[in-house]
Amino acid sequence: MNILLLGSGGREHALAWQMKQSKHCEHLFIAPGNAGTAECGVNVSIAASDFQGIRKLVMEEDIHLVIVGPEEPLVKGIHDFFLADPVLHKIPVVGPVQAGAELEGSKDFAKAFMKRHSIPTAAYQTFAKDQLPQAKKFLRTLSPPYVLKADGLAAGKGVVIPTSLEDADRELDEMLGQAKFGDASAKVVIEEFLKGIELSVFVLTDGKTYKLLPSAKDYKRIGDGDTGLNTGGMGAVSPVPFADEKFLKKVEERIVIPTVKGLIADGIDYKGFLFIGLMNVNGDPFVIEYNVRLGDPETEVVIPRIQTDLVELFFATGKGKLSTIDLKIDPRTAVTVMMVSGGYPGDYEKGKVINGIENVQDSFVFHAGTTKKDHSIVTAGGRVLAITSFGANIKEAREKSYRSLGEISFDGAYFRRDVGLDLLSD
Ligand code: AMP
Ligand code: GLY
Repeated sequence: MNILLLGSGGREHALAWQMKQSKHCEHLFIAPGNAGTAECGVNVSIAASDFQGIRKLVMEEDIHLVIVGPEEPLVKGIHDFFLADPVLHKIPVVGPVQAGAELEGSKDFAKAFMKRHSIPTAAYQTFAKDQLPQAKKFLRTLSPPYVLKADGLAAGKGVVIPTSLEDADRELDEMLGQAKFGDASAKVVIEEFLKGIELSVFVLTDGKTYKLLPSAKDYKRIGDGDTGLNTGGMGAVSPVPFADEKFLKKVEERIVIPTVKGLIADGIDYKGFLFIGLMNVNGDPFVIEYNVRLGDPETEVVIPRIQTDLVELFFATGKGKLSTIDLKIDPRTAVTVMMVSGGYPGDYEKGKVINGIENVQDSFVFHAGTTKKDHSIVTAGGRVLAITSFGANIKEAREKSYRSLGEISFDGAYFRRDVGLDLLSD
């Protein structure tokens, strides 16, 4: 069949690379894609949120299946756009309808959903622009650190965790009073701070049943030892050793099943991924956040571990027939390390020539921010490449990724040296 994948990051390269291997994949189009996805299919220069452009492409290329990578088109209602169109409505789309995407698009919606369906999460209250005094009063009932979340999408920057009351007050003034994140902080969720270890669990659902995909841990800060600014993610490991069977059973029973049932009860026909950010608090899981897509770079370790034909899996999801699929997972460990542009997550230069990718033998090199220019592959974003390797354990997989990374170079390249180090006990 002909498939369209929306997005342009490392997540999309990993998805494209694996879908391309399916016997069901005839023609694969990626909009807009990157230099890596261009090796798996045809890149089309249409933005992932250009609905009319996508409609035209789907009709011209006779697309049978659409996979949505990033959250933006979902929050803007791409799935609803397909359902409402007389020509497109029968084409399966993997990615939730707008009402489901609100789980990521609005923190207040997500918190109310969890409360309604008794899903464990931090206690909270939401405050609107005109409730600044009430918000400050609520802060005084909590103990530090304080967790303040802009309600809407804020490019991953909307969560602030001040350690003093003065800082929290100032943050609230900026977020609610001065629209620090624009419309996204017109409402602010204030919640209890949870102390524990973070991990992510990925779920694929067709709105009736679900499959638990592998767990992963992401390395969010720019510096070794989890220091410095937050980034989109500097590396990832799957599976997560501390997410053992007992813990995952709790996640499934207390979080995944009530979430899928809650969506059904709320009348939301959710077909797509759910990426559940969790805090393990003394062995008990609490939801930190929902995302309505796969994580990046978590995808670069989760997807290669899926041995089931990805196109069959996705088509069944879109058609509401996920129960017919048997999910097979590679038991090996996967580790990915991100190479980023010097300066990221602040300002950085683009257009640096990348050398040596062809020398990598033992790893997959997934492109994130790359493009082709005059027969060279050059950097085109902050996060540039994700180098993924398999191993019998984390030690073996991470060593392979770092060895492969040594083959690749570009001006100003930076990477964390400690991906997986904190988990080295297996
Ligand atoms: P989010 O953008 O929702 O993933 O939040 C960003 C980060 O803030 C998370 O990855 C956590 O490290 C942290 N965080 C969010 N909510 C809480 C909470 N209630 N308690 C402790 N840390 C939190
Ligand atoms: N790696 C975190 C995210 O994709 O949101």
